[in-house]
Amino acid sequence: MDWLWLRRVRGTAVAVLALALFAAGLASAHDGPKPEKKGILLVAFGTSFDSARVSFRNIDGKVKEAFPGVDVRWAYSSNIIRHKLAAAENRHVDSPAEALAGMMDDGFTRVAVQSLHTIPGREYEGLKRMVEAFEGLPKGFVQVEVGTPLMYSPEDVRQVVDVMLRNAPKERTPGDALVFMGHGTEHPANIYYAGSQYFFWQKDPNVLVGTVEGTPTLDDVVAGLKARGLKTAYVMPFMSVAGDHAHNDMAGDEPDSWKSVLEKAGVRCIPVMRGTAEISDMADLWVQHLKAAYVRLP
Ligand code: CO
Repeated sequence: MDWLWLRRVRGTAVAVLALALFAAGLASAHDGPKPEKKGILLVAFGTSFDSARVSFRNIDGKVKEAFPGVDVRWAYSSNIIRHKLAAAENRHVDSPAEALAGMMDDGFTRVAVQSLHTIPGREYEGLKRMVEAFEGLPKGFVQVEVGTPLMYSPEDVRQVVDVMLRNAPKERTPGDALVFMGHGTEHPANIYYAGSQYFFWQKDPNVLVGTVEGTPTLDDVVAGLKARGLKTAYVMPFMSVAGDHAHNDMAGDEPDSWKSVLEKAGVRCIPVMRGTAEISDMADLWVQHLKAAYVRLP
């Protein structure tokens, strides 16, 4: 991932907004006040792995069950993923800007947008800014509320930790390590990984949290395993999907994968290919955040 996505997202947003303003101007002479229409937009980072989409289907089902009769739409916040899907599978997934423009055009007046991200990092921040740009447009939405990502309040982090521990592999014994591989970021919200580690250690000293692109690092995880003399580790993604990072960075055969590095350090590594959004109780936490956003729509 790179910083370019933000500039691209901004470029798309400006183009979409310009079109929306133009269309609103054309229509303004004739349209009366709009009838109220509420909708939901779910925004995930996205994944190019078909097998990983089980996470999104799980959340989609739960949201539709919790909000019967409400229109539920999807967008991916990663431009790279969306372009990859378009090129490889000829599959179009909306960006948040495209989805919001579409909902505006379809007459929605109030929308609850739910961030399906794990931490309030770059993706969430970009989404918030995008939504703010859509509010207050002539003939635009009356109100858009954004639901917080999985870990936002300290209570969220406690709950996530409990759900992760309750859903640890059944085969794991207390003498085995449980390693969670988060994405990680240079955004200050990276601190949520270390924050979750604090709560994990209150419940289980053999749980270690690491990240691919931030801190704690894989080196920190290896040091933690060595310090505890742990010889077996169940390694699971701390990401909503078991996609590219899980298959390659975590469980891949490359010498720098987590599996290879742990094995080299003398730790038997058992990868668990399951995104957090596949876990029923975890998906429920995202749905709770969506409910909190949705009730703010009168
Ligand atoms: Co990534």
